[in-house]
Amino acid sequence: MKRKRVAILISGSGSNMVKLVESMADSGHPGEAVLVLANKAEAGGLTKAEALGVPVAVVAHKGKTREEFEAEVSAVLEAAEVDIVCLAGFMRVLSAAFVREWQGRILNIHPSLLPLFKGLDTHQRALDAGMAVHGATVHQVTADLDAGPILGQAVMPVHEDDTAETLAARLLPLEHRLYPEVLARFAAGSRGRVALFA
Ligand code: GRF
Repeated sequence: MKRKRVAILISGSGSNMVKLVESMADSGHPGEAVLVLANKAEAGGLTKAEALGVPVAVVAHKGKTREEFEAEVSAVLEAAEVDIVCLAGFMRVLSAAFVREWQGRILNIHPSLLPLFKGLDTHQRALDAGMAVHGATVHQVTADLDAGPILGQAVMPVHEDDTAETLAARLLPLEHRLYPEVLARFAAGSRGRVALFA
């Protein structure tokens, strides 16, 4: 089967991106990492991607309308003949028009157990709500922010002395297991859901 060409969009350190790229290193994987794209040149993940041998691109959002920015991103993705787009710590909200153009081919990882705590500051909001469990979700991206079909979730307990920082730090290794597992299934054409427990 022809491997799916996967692009990963980042804005920061790219720790999830590294795990996704490493997971696709095996030629038997149904996906192949063909591009890492960042919306700012200072994204720390770019040098990590280059070190892993993946082509990189920067499409800066600053000084552009959302339409101009997204048109450039789409052009770079099409030039790389991308089949699947993984958002990994990508901090730009994509328009309905962009999502329509890439309908059903965009995944995102969100650091909460959706549909709880859409948006930002998920760890502090989970603590403020007195949650006993917390986690991360990989979902398909739709025009409705953080509301697309869920493809996988990872769950962990909240400790009495947890802070937003300790929750985030303990969740990241779980994210690094969840996202590659979901991508492997998605690239193979399966839409079955993944459930992971700490
Ligand atoms: C992660 O918690 C991810 O869920 C969120 O951004 C955080 C940083 O991700 N979207 P990364 O290290 O940039 O992959």
